Amino acid sequence: MNQIAESPLTARRSGPLHGRLRVPGDKSISHRALILGALSVGETRISGLLEGEDVINTAKAMRRLGAIVLREGAGFWSIHGVGVGGFAAPADALDFGNSATGCRLAIGAVAGCPITATFDGDASLRKRPMQRVLDPLERIGAKATAAAAGGRLPLTLAGARDPIPIVYEPPVASAQLKSAVLLAGLGAPGETVVIEAEATRDHTERMLVHFGAEVRVEPHGTHGRRITLTGQPELNPAAVAVPADPSSAAFPLVAALITPGSDVILESVMTNPLRTGLLTTLREMGAAIEILDVRNEGGEEIADLRVRASALKGIDVPAERAPTMIDEYPVLSVAAAFADGTTTMRGLKELRVKESDRLAATADMLRVNGVEAEIAGDDLMVAGKRRAAGGGRVATHMDHRIAMSALVMGLASEQPVGVDDAAFIATSFPGFVDLMRSLGANMA
Ligand code: S3P
Repeated sequence: MNQIAESPLTARRSGPLHGRLRVPGDKSISHRALILGALSVGETRISGLLEGEDVINTAKAMRRLGAIVLREGAGFWSIHGVGVGGFAAPADALDFGNSATGCRLAIGAVAGCPITATFDGDASLRKRPMQRVLDPLERIGAKATAAAAGGRLPLTLAGARDPIPIVYEPPVASAQLKSAVLLAGLGAPGETVVIEAEATRDHTERMLVHFGAEVRVEPHGTHGRRITLTGQPELNPAAVAVPADPSSAAFPLVAALITPGSDVILESVMTNPLRTGLLTTLREMGAAIEILDVRNEGGEEIADLRVRASALKGIDVPAERAPTMIDEYPVLSVAAAFADGTTTMRGLKELRVKESDRLAATADMLRVNGVEAEIAGDDLMVAGKRRAAGGGRVATHMDHRIAMSALVMGLASEQPVGVDDAAFIATSFPGFVDLMRSLGANMA
């Protein structure tokens, strides 16, 4: 288990934020590049890898499963993979720290191999539901034994000797769940099909194609997709250039919107349409965000974002947009506090099972700083008064995004905003505080 010392931090009202910066590499793509590299035969080279604790834990897990994973320089990594079905049984438990993405994707990858492995994580990850992943993987032929109810960690998984291709309709919109099934399906003969009612981030599908697998993606219903993977491919190593993470860019972006006089450029941010729900929403609220120099890097669309402080108005955010901005609600709710009028965010059930109960943690973060917030069913309502009193100390519950959202709020609040523990920011956004300070943010 990772032991991270608690470290409180406070953000204070700041002058205008100015400057250009590139936030670290995308977390979703970084995990997937390591896992697909480990399942390829030969050397995969990655640049711009996110060197946050979550991704480092995935790198260590791939090593324990038999891949050679080397750090060659800042963000530059090389992996000599073992091929589809080639994982070796690890001697010790694989520890994924705070990361459900690393853990669930690795569980999927192991489920399609004839080995047994034990999966574990920190106190936050041990609370998160794993049964949702184990259900389809057991249909594929894997067998799981978990000590706790709900398939929670630590759990031991015996991968399938002869994986069975399945047709699977996930009961929740989850890219992790979809990806776990596709990664397990790599080991099965024939076609593994995932039918999503709501399309979720498609990095696994895109990257599988990039590594030489055959994947067909067709529309399904109004918002969904049908994804068909042909099993037992030979995955070929492929270079991966990891673009800047839009979920990390969200923090300086909202900070610039709510801090009067700010003008900031965020460079090379991935603008994959299944990740841009926050941009759509903020622009509807009246945010001045220019999307500049749209280009393609490593199979993903990227752009520079120019963000200027803006007068925002409250809006209704529809439930069907949630999969395209699932990680952005805490920081959106901060923008909503500084807007004029109520913002209603609908369909947030999945937020209850993130690194914390993020729905409750977000409402508490706002309330403790004098912002009215109400949870009704799966919806969150924030009463925007174009100000926040601040003065509160936010309980982060081992959740990096709650910590960063609270600190962003403090930059424009009347009184300072403190967080009990900023240590978990390092899971996804190493260097957050220094980057924010380089723009002029007052955080100490
Ligand atoms: C992720 C999927 C999402 C997201 C997480 C990253 C991924 O989780 O919240 O931060 O990389 O597939 P769910 O699949 O649980 O929605």
